Amino acid sequence: MRVLQVSAELYPLVKTGGLADITGALPAALQSAGCEVRAVLPGFVGVMVDLQDSVLLAHVEAPWGERVAVRYGRLATINLMAYVIDVPGLYLRRGTPYEDEYRQPHGDNHRRFALLGWVATKLAYGLDPLWQPQVVHSHDWHAGLTSAYMAFVTPKVQRVASIFTIHNLAYQGVFPPSYFFDLGLPLEAFGVNGVEFHGQLSFMKAGLFYSDYITTVSPTYAREIQTPEQGCGLDGLLRARSGALVGILNAVDESVWNPAIDPHIPFCYDARTPYDKVLCKADFQRRVGLTVQNEAPLFGIVSRLTEQKGLYLVLSVLDTILGRGGQLVVLGTGDAWLEAVFRERAAAHPKSVSVCIGYDEPYAHRVFAATDVTLVPSRFEPCGLTQMYGLKYGSLPLVHRVGGLADTVIDCTLEDLANGLANGFVFDEFTIPAFDRAILRSFALYGRRYEWLRVCECAMQQRLGWETAAQKYKALYQQLCE
Ligand code: ADP
Ligand code: GLC
Repeated sequence: MRVLQVSAELYPLVKTGGLADITGALPAALQSAGCEVRAVLPGFVGVMVDLQDSVLLAHVEAPWGERVAVRYGRLATINLMAYVIDVPGLYLRRGTPYEDEYRQPHGDNHRRFALLGWVATKLAYGLDPLWQPQVVHSHDWHAGLTSAYMAFVTPKVQRVASIFTIHNLAYQGVFPPSYFFDLGLPLEAFGVNGVEFHGQLSFMKAGLFYSDYITTVSPTYAREIQTPEQGCGLDGLLRARSGALVGILNAVDESVWNPAIDPHIPFCYDARTPYDKVLCKADFQRRVGLTVQNEAPLFGIVSRLTEQKGLYLVLSVLDTILGRGGQLVVLGTGDAWLEAVFRERAAAHPKSVSVCIGYDEPYAHRVFAATDVTLVPSRFEPCGLTQMYGLKYGSLPLVHRVGGLADTVIDCTLEDLANGLANGFVFDEFTIPAFDRAILRSFALYGRRYEWLRVCECAMQQRLGWETAAQKYKALYQQLCE
C-alpha cells in the first residue's frame, strides 16, 4: 500500500502543536504495518535543513502562474522519504508556519497552502514517474484543498483515493471569496456543494466535501462534530457524510515519550521505580525556585494558551490549589492576556507557581516527569496528547469529559479504583465548581499514598502505542482501494 501524507507540520522539524506529533509518528507506524509512506511538505526552514541527498524532481506551475521547484530526498531525522516544495519566497519567513513575528497570519496563506494541495495532486497523478501513491492522506485545513484538486482530475488509469483527517475543526482556513480565483479550481467548486462557506472560501470545507473518506482523531470527537454545539458550522455537512466519517484515536510515539529512556529528564524511571519520579520532581522544584516538597501535588500544564484549553478554570481555582499546599507549573505560549495573567500569578507566588512562557520541547518532557497531575480542562479537545503524555509519565491527567479526553481518561471513582481501571480525574460540567471538585478529588487521592501509586502504575502501564491506530488506518486505505 503506497501512501502519500500531506501536512504542514511534522515533528520534530516543524511543530506548533499535536498535529506535528501525529504526522511525525504516523509514517513509521504505517511502515511497521506494511505500508510504504512518503510525505509532501512545504519547504519551511526545519524541513529544508533536514532534507538530505535531495534531487530536483520537477518544476510545477502554480495556479497563479509562478514556477515552483519540487525536490525529493530523505528527511534525515526521522528517515522518511519526502517531496518538498522549495519556494523560499513563500515558506522561509519569520514567525510560525502560519503567522509572522507579530502573530498576524501571512497575507498569502491561501497561496502557501493551496500550493501544498496542488503539488500533492500532481504527485498523486504522475509527477514522479517512479512512484505513484494509491492513497493520499491529508491533514487539517492546510492540506484541505488536496482532495478538491484531486476530485477534478480525470485520471488516465486508476483513481487515487483521498483521505482527510480533521485534527481541529475550529481552525478552518477561511479566506475572502475573491481569493478563489488564485486557486485554479473550476468555477463550479465555489458553491454550497464545494469550497464555499457562508460566502467565503474554506479550505477545511474542501477537505470535508471532496475527500473519499474523513477521519478525526477520537471516536467521541467524531460524534461531537456532528452536533451544532461542536460542529463549527460544518455539522450539517458532517452529518450528511457520516457514512464516510470515523474517529481513530491518536496514539503516543513511545520512542519520544517514555520516561524509562527519556534523555531530557534528570532521572529515568518506570512504574516500578516511582522514587525516581520523586527525584525528578525535587530536581525541577529546586531549579525553578519552587519549595522542594512532596507532601502535596505539583500540577502541570503544557499547552497552547488559548480559549480552547479552558485555562480560566485553572486561574479560578488556583487559590484552592495553593491553599492546600499544592503547586503549579505552566509551560505555554499563546494569547497575550493569558500569558500576562499566568506571569502575574507566578510573580505573586514564586515559591508555589512557576510559569515559563515560550515553546520548549525538552522542558515539556521535564514538566511531565516532575508533576503529579497534568491539567487538561479544555472546553473542547479533538484528541489531546498531553493527557496521554501525563499517563505515560505517571502525572495523572485531570480532564474535562470531552473529545479524546473522554476516550483516554477514566475517573478515580470508587468502583474504577476497585477494579483497577482508574487512571486520572474527569469532570463533566465545564464549570468552576465541577473543576474545583475534581481538584479536591486529586488532593484526596494524593493523601492516600498507596492508592495513588497504584493508579500511577495503572496509568503508566496503559497501552498507548501506535499499533492499533496504524492498523485502523491501513484497513481504511485497503477498503478505499478495493
Ligand atoms: P494541540 O494540538 O491542540 O495544541 P495536543 O495536546 O494535541 O494539543 O498537543 C500539544 C503538543 O504540543 C504536545 O506535544 C505538547 O507537549 C506540545 N506543546 C504545547 N505547548 C508547548 C510548549 N509551550 N512547549 C513545548 N511543547 C508544547
Ligand atoms: C489538534 C487538536 C488536538 C489533537 C491534535 C493532534 O491540534 O487540538 O486535540 O490532539 O490536533 O491530532
